[in-house]
Amino acid sequence: MRHQIPKSHIYLQTLCFALMEKMLAMLVLLILKPGTVSAGWSVTFEKTDPCALKGSSVELSCSYYTDEGTVKNTAWYKGELENGTWRRVALSDLPSYQNHFEYLGDQLGDCGLAIHDLQVNDTGHYYFRFDTEAYGRRSKESVYLTVTDPPLNVSVEMSYSGHLTMGSSVNLTCSSAANPAADNYTWYSSAGSSFSSLLQVGSGQVLSLPSVEASHTGLYLCQARNRLGENNSTEVLLTVDETDTNRVILLVGIGVKVFIGLLLPIVIIWAWRLRRKSAVDKEERSRDYENISTA
Ligand SMILES: *[C@@H]1O[C@H](CO)[C@@H](O)[C@H](O)[C@H]1NC(C)=O
Ligand SMILES: *[C@@H]1O[C@H](CO)[C@@H](O)[C@H](O)[C@H]1NC(C)=O
Ligand SMILES: *[C@@H]1O[C@H](CO)[C@@H](O)[C@H](O)[C@H]1NC(C)=O
Ligand SMILES: *[C@@H]1O[C@H](CO)[C@@H](O)[C@H](O)[C@H]1NC(C)=O
Ligand SMILES: *[C@@H]1O[C@H](CO)[C@@H](O)[C@H](O)[C@H]1NC(C)=O
Ligand SMILES: *[C@@H]1O[C@H](CO)[C@@H](O)[C@H](O)[C@H]1NC(C)=O
Repeated sequence: MRHQIPKSHIYLQTLCFALMEKMLAMLVLLILKPGTVSAGWSVTFEKTDPCALKGSSVELSCSYYTDEGTVKNTAWYKGELENGTWRRVALSDLPSYQNHFEYLGDQLGDCGLAIHDLQVNDTGHYYFRFDTEAYGRRSKESVYLTVTDPPLNVSVEMSYSGHLTMGSSVNLTCSSAANPAADNYTWYSSAGSSFSSLLQVGSGQVLSLPSVEASHTGLYLCQARNRLGENNSTEVLLTVDETDTNRVILLVGIGVKVFIGLLLPIVIIWAWRLRRKSAVDKEERSRDYENISTA
């Protein structure tokens, strides 16, 4: 509590200084250039080159000022190419006017405009106009609105390229260039299904396959989504090399069978014979030992 009092004091002081500075500046302007404060009229756009996506809504912020009397009428115009010449057409004269354009302003200084369910052909120059009793004033500047259609550029990167052997691990990473950024990723794959249909196999930006099997072979694609729409990456082919590993397993299998079927009896017989021989040897040696010891 103690610390907050001096803080607000400082804030008030700063505010007072700022206000005094403004008033002083206005006074200087009034004395030096009497014409500039009474500008007659003006139209100001907050942003003159907005960008928006097809299907979305955009708000063109705009303010105006006039000292030429009461405003009787306001209107927005669009630059349209008609028979090779550019004309400014009132939005209310466009066939798409209904539910598409919405005047957010008033007759007192706000001239905001909203455009809903944007189409690519909404791209263009927009002008604001107001009428007082005596004059019609149209903004010299315009807003140039750009409406774009492929908002999502989606691609997949594989952590491993080339042939994957069974049991190895692979990560598929989905990236997308989108505005606003994609916030939902879904993975589809043809693996384990017929090649014509894709099944959902995961979600999240990374699809991690820690131990691949032959059944993971197939086409993979990633779907990125933001609140405005979705798009798919191109399909990437993941190939799990089953032949080499299978051959190894096959060879090991044959080896084991050969060993059990042929080698093992031989080994057993050989071992049995060896034991018998050594038993005979022992017997003979023990006799020798006996002979020596008695000698
Ligand atoms: C713009 O395209 C839409 C369909 O995409 C159409 O309904 C509309 O009339 C077009 N507007 C103009 C001014 O041509
Ligand atoms: C989806 O991506 C394709 C290929 O990159 C592109 O041609 C298309 O316009 C995109 N569509 C959308 C709705 O983003
Ligand atoms: C999409 O992304 C790829 C790779 O990042 C890039 O080469 C390509 O130019 C991008 N396309 C568009 C339309 O942004
Ligand atoms: C895949 O990602 C996981 C964690 O996300 C990581 O532990 C693993 O090492 C990665 N594998 C490869 C092959 O990059
Ligand atoms: C992502 O999209 C899927 C499919 O539409 C949905 O079920 C899921 O809830 C979404 N996840 C997030 C985080 O928005
Ligand atoms: C992306 O792929 C999925 C699965 O095949 C499909 O349902 C969806 O319509 C595709 N989206 C686009 C924009 O092509």
